[in-house]
Amino acid sequence: MIDVISIRDFSRDDLDSLIDTALQMKAEGVTPSGAQKKVASLFFEDSTRTRTSFERAAKNLGYEVDGFAGPEGTSVKKGEPLADTVRMFEGYQCDAIVMRHGLEGAARFAADVLEAPVISGGDGSNQHPTQTMQDLMTIQEAHGKIDGLQVAMVGDLKYGRTVHSLLDALGKYDVGVRLVAPGLVAMPGWRVDDYKKAMGKDIQITPDFLAAIKEVDVLYMTRIQRERFPQGPEGQAEYETVSGVYKLYAELLREAKPGLIVLHPLPRYKHSLEIALDVDKTPNAKYIEQASNGLFMRQAILRRVLEEGGFEREPQKLGEHPSSWRELSIKDGTKKGEHLIYRLDNGTLIDHIEAGNSRRVLRVLGLKDYTETPLIVAQGLSSDRYGRKDVVGVQDKELTEYDLSKLALVTSQATVNIVREGRVIRKGKILLPPVIDGLVQCQNQKCVTHPSNYEHAPSRFYTESVEPLQLRCHYCEQPTTRENMRLLL
Ligand code: NCD
Repeated sequence: MIDVISIRDFSRDDLDSLIDTALQMKAEGVTPSGAQKKVASLFFEDSTRTRTSFERAAKNLGYEVDGFAGPEGTSVKKGEPLADTVRMFEGYQCDAIVMRHGLEGAARFAADVLEAPVISGGDGSNQHPTQTMQDLMTIQEAHGKIDGLQVAMVGDLKYGRTVHSLLDALGKYDVGVRLVAPGLVAMPGWRVDDYKKAMGKDIQITPDFLAAIKEVDVLYMTRIQRERFPQGPEGQAEYETVSGVYKLYAELLREAKPGLIVLHPLPRYKHSLEIALDVDKTPNAKYIEQASNGLFMRQAILRRVLEEGGFEREPQKLGEHPSSWRELSIKDGTKKGEHLIYRLDNGTLIDHIEAGNSRRVLRVLGLKDYTETPLIVAQGLSSDRYGRKDVVGVQDKELTEYDLSKLALVTSQATVNIVREGRVIRKGKILLPPVIDGLVQCQNQKCVTHPSNYEHAPSRFYTESVEPLQLRCHYCEQPTTRENMRLLL
């Protein structure tokens, strides 16, 4: 793997080895190898530390840097699609694209469009993988270990991307995690579920800030992400109820566990100061060190990507769509439905559809118009195995792989029979392929695929579980279930 897009893609070994390299570069300095590399630094969203530390890191390694710091003054302001902007920098022969974008999945989309490696400096509220790598480095440096520690994340756990990727990373270590946030900006439930699944371990969700200070080894403070709240007075009102709720003062640290380190991805917000200035002088304050570590970590990342062929973990195999069909045996060429009302001579018979579900089946197959294709629809028939079932027969038509994937999204138990001259010649169960392209609309409005963002990124989902159905958006990483799934038809 050569891209750095989501912490989810990284193995613990890759993370640990980056931490080692970054700490070594910090201790020993770095000498350019002489490799002639060009890095494009494309910041579609504001940044101070991430952008400048990437650019400084690239220069320290002897690379050239092009790009822009914010869309002001670029054609992004004229409405240029993201894919065009990034493609152009590849055309200018940049060897890697470092980018930050407000849409979730933007870096993944860019990586799909480009040959060159993409390193994300943050995608909306989703991920900030390189920040997490420098956070892990700072924890390792201060405590000499990560395993066995207690970590609290405090503040905006809903919109803050740094805590999202940190939570994913901590799922790869043996740590205790506690989440301290006002209800309105709590960690999204699906992220907590993902962590629990990865760790087989619970997570403590608590409003008790003082207990966290006393009991944890790492206190990760965050800014309330005002810019990600809904626009208008409603968003403002929401923001005001949560701003300034958790504030750390030096005095509160008197009760801290010995060795507690206070981290913050920065910037802190000068109007409400979630970390009061008097904390800066305490030995617990490690956020300035943490920010400096960004330079060493980004040197380690750039060299790994540009000079050492990337990471050990292989990315998910895309574009392979194993058959969505499990062959079933046909009992001596049975005639299908000869005793029932749905006798079919040539075509496809979809049997064992969950009772009441035939309408959805017709809809996904584009067969609502009964006049164009001769159809047989039987509802609520009695079935030995399922009690009641629906059956759909499509005269003179064999289903394509694409039809089968669509079908599998709306029914989990149907059997498909291919009928020729009144006999079943093939019979099978339909299965969901592991990759589902172009069929499901991601419901996350901040996703790069959402039509309201006009980025024209194609829909792609992975099948994570079949019963109950859970799909995951390839871009913004949010899961969706059969209940809240919207089909693109
Ligand atoms: C953070 C970010 O942009 O996600 N800052 C950073 O990169 N160091 C956090 C923030 O903006 O609050």
